[in-house]
Amino acid sequence: MKPIEQMQTPDPRNVEHWRADFPILGERVHGRPLVYLDNGATTQKPASVIYAENAYYRHSNANVHRGVHLLSQRATDSFEAARATIARFINAQRPEEIVFVRGTTEAINLVAQSYARPRIKPGDEILISAMEHHSNIVPWQLLCEQTGAALKVVPIDDTGALDADAYERLLSERTRLVAMTHLANALGSINPVERLVAASHARGVPVLLDGAQAIAHLPVDVHAIACDFYAFSGHKVYGPTGIGVLYGKAALLEAMPPWQGGGDMIRSVTFEKTEYNEIPWKFEAGTPNIAGAIALGAALDYVDSIGMEAIAAHENELLAYATDALRVIPGLRFIGTARDKASILSFVLDGVHAHDVGTILDHHGIAVRAGHHCAMPVMQRFGVPATVRASLALYNRHQDIDALIEGLGKVREIFGT
Ligand code: ALA
Repeated sequence: MKPIEQMQTPDPRNVEHWRADFPILGERVHGRPLVYLDNGATTQKPASVIYAENAYYRHSNANVHRGVHLLSQRATDSFEAARATIARFINAQRPEEIVFVRGTTEAINLVAQSYARPRIKPGDEILISAMEHHSNIVPWQLLCEQTGAALKVVPIDDTGALDADAYERLLSERTRLVAMTHLANALGSINPVERLVAASHARGVPVLLDGAQAIAHLPVDVHAIACDFYAFSGHKVYGPTGIGVLYGKAALLEAMPPWQGGGDMIRSVTFEKTEYNEIPWKFEAGTPNIAGAIALGAALDYVDSIGMEAIAAHENELLAYATDALRVIPGLRFIGTARDKASILSFVLDGVHAHDVGTILDHHGIAVRAGHHCAMPVMQRFGVPATVRASLALYNRHQDIDALIEGLGKVREIFGT
């Protein structure tokens, strides 16, 4: 796959075709056409995903791995086919390396409790970065409280880029695991994951990547990156909420104890001893989100039908357009200007709280996120309580950015800034 900077500028006519696939984009908000720029929080769903979830309940609904009847076989086949689709999408070597979870948060907690906890001793270290989402901070703090391990944090520079030299210095003989975002949700910074993984592996330390944002904006090849774990959520990549993925190398998953106990994760149970199922089912206790998994498979098929290269090229062109247009607004300061960046425009406006900006934009039909973006340490690093975040997806177009600029003009008029 070509690096993003060598990709072709996409044909803008495609965007209108893509938009037609998303029924919600026809909604009006406060009497205005919806301009949806909150894709970092969740993406909208194409009709094929809505159809897949609906069709499952209409034609195949039954529990998986349990029934001998036809509907159960259909449900099981579709559920396992979705797993295979996901494995192909991120280039996992085997479908068994794909564990269905509720989302990125659950995936990270699973690794913390099942992989790390049994291996960690007092004085050991977990390495994260200063640009992490709370879901890649708090599970490690819990683990540190449980085990006496210490959390080490790799600093970021004033652009929001990781200090990769500090990363290599902080990797010590006590480091037991690295947990790092691939694409930072509050800043848009893209981490040099191949380099980070290589440095970590040179010291025998495994790496978990939080791919919650990256999965919808960058080609992800877990085999090429060589990470040990990769976590992402379905709803951020045009799929449903409540379903997500933990990728783990088979040898690591096999060596880990189950995460939760219950039905479907066992081979046999007696009161004396339980034998666990094979991977990945060992980690999937209870009835899973079957419809969600199937619809996530449909979402990734949808992304593949356009191609991640085309999506990334389109979004990068739009990001450059928006960056140029926003940077000339008086009093606007970007938070997150890393050279390697995708899909996120995070900023503050002098004299106006981010929440007021978000509320006024909403009245003009423009949905952005305003707040700390579940990344309070990032806000502290930049000395701001909150930012306004416009985050892009494949269906955004130049008009959306123009509407944002106009909306920000109204904000400045109202506040007299
Ligand atoms: N993690 C999501 C965001 O960045 C909710 O908005």
